[in-house]
Amino acid sequence: MTPKMWDGRFTKATDTTVNDFNSSIRFDCRMAMQDIRGSKAHAAMLCSIGILTTDELDQIETGLNGIAAEIANGTLPFDPQAEDIHMFIEAELTARIGEAGKKLHTGRSRNDQVATDLKLWLRDASSDFKADLIELLETIFELASVHVNTIMPGYTHLQRAQPITFGYHLMAYGQMFLRDLDRLEDAVIRMNISPLGNGALAGTTYPLDREQTAADLGFNGITLNALDGVSDRDHAMELAFVLALFMVHISRFSEEIILWSSQEFKFIELDDAFSTGSSIMPQKKNPDVAELARGKTGRVIGDLMTLLTMMKNLPLAYNKDMQEDKEAIFDAFDTVALCLPAFTGMLKTLRVRADRMREAAAGGFTNATDLADYLVIKGLPFREAHHVSGQLVHHCIENNTVLEKLDLDTLKSVCPLFDTDVYEAISLETCVNRRSLPGGPAPETVSSAITASKERLTKFK
Ligand code: ARG
Repeated sequence: MTPKMWDGRFTKATDTTVNDFNSSIRFDCRMAMQDIRGSKAHAAMLCSIGILTTDELDQIETGLNGIAAEIANGTLPFDPQAEDIHMFIEAELTARIGEAGKKLHTGRSRNDQVATDLKLWLRDASSDFKADLIELLETIFELASVHVNTIMPGYTHLQRAQPITFGYHLMAYGQMFLRDLDRLEDAVIRMNISPLGNGALAGTTYPLDREQTAADLGFNGITLNALDGVSDRDHAMELAFVLALFMVHISRFSEEIILWSSQEFKFIELDDAFSTGSSIMPQKKNPDVAELARGKTGRVIGDLMTLLTMMKNLPLAYNKDMQEDKEAIFDAFDTVALCLPAFTGMLKTLRVRADRMREAAAGGFTNATDLADYLVIKGLPFREAHHVSGQLVHHCIENNTVLEKLDLDTLKSVCPLFDTDVYEAISLETCVNRRSLPGGPAPETVSSAITASKERLTKFK
């Protein structure tokens, strides 16, 4: 059993309920490799400032490498009785190499150790998330470029509004996910400062070379206040926010995918490999991937709330409350890591029903604005043109028809400014093509937005 490193001043063993309550190894064992990495960097630095001999350093490195290898191949089980991963590895090292192992913790506290480990873990998890996010973005750009001419209705209030294209709609999500990527990078840059050497709360009396361990561990600098260094969890909260907002974006996209794949919309059909069936209704094909992604958004938002609430009111510096950071932030990363491949796969394989999209765009008077704009060009003030167009829509509803099917006499009876060129002006293609201002849905505009977005993406690779 892993011994308690702090039992010197105690006269009783810890109560078993407290032991279980206090223990974090069942979840912080996930930071084993980061802990070993941090310990190796700390030991190397202790050697370079003369606290460890090279022989002791050798023993520590060999011992830690052995532990890492056995953890990796599953031959070294974590002791559930160990208080945490830091105690477990140190005890295991000392059991293996003896005296030298006891020197490893010189000039270090579990407070700066856990702060360092968590940052290293979050950096690794962030880079996995980044890779998945890049793949999602590439999938969106790919699909969007195939559909720059696929006309669909754009909505406000979920009512058909103006014609757009599927490629344009997809690229709206492209912008959201690019911002997520940007936020991720930004949060990682702010996080990437080493707390190692901050000790328990006030640094240490040993002449530690903090720059050396920081460089060794790939940090871009060192924290400038030890109280803050050991008790800062901003990075966990920021990354949880990045993930929560990302999931909010995924949930909006999921909601649309669910709507679009319904019999009522039928804008898309999900691949069989990315849908599920019903145990009772044989005809069902359900968009479970999108629904679960939508549902799991709540969970990631919950993780963010856990972290914010846990940190609220905590006095400086380390408090045991902060042990609660890991399960929440691990869960946020795990949830996203689970969602993303399935979500991206669903996008890659979905079938687009361009005919249905077009039909919907043609059916909902989405060209009514363009009809008004046409009259404005002919000299009518916009407010009047809006009224005329509205009257014609009303007429169409009464007579079960659409604007482009009204004959010229009917149009002229409402406003004499109409001419034969109106039909061209209100065709769905014209409506889309003429919205070519930067940011608009015209095919060339969307194509250049895709090119610009791809260009931005390469900067993150
Ligand atoms: N398991 C602890 C955590 O995750 C490690 C730090 C413990 N530090 C202490 N002073 N008790 O927060």
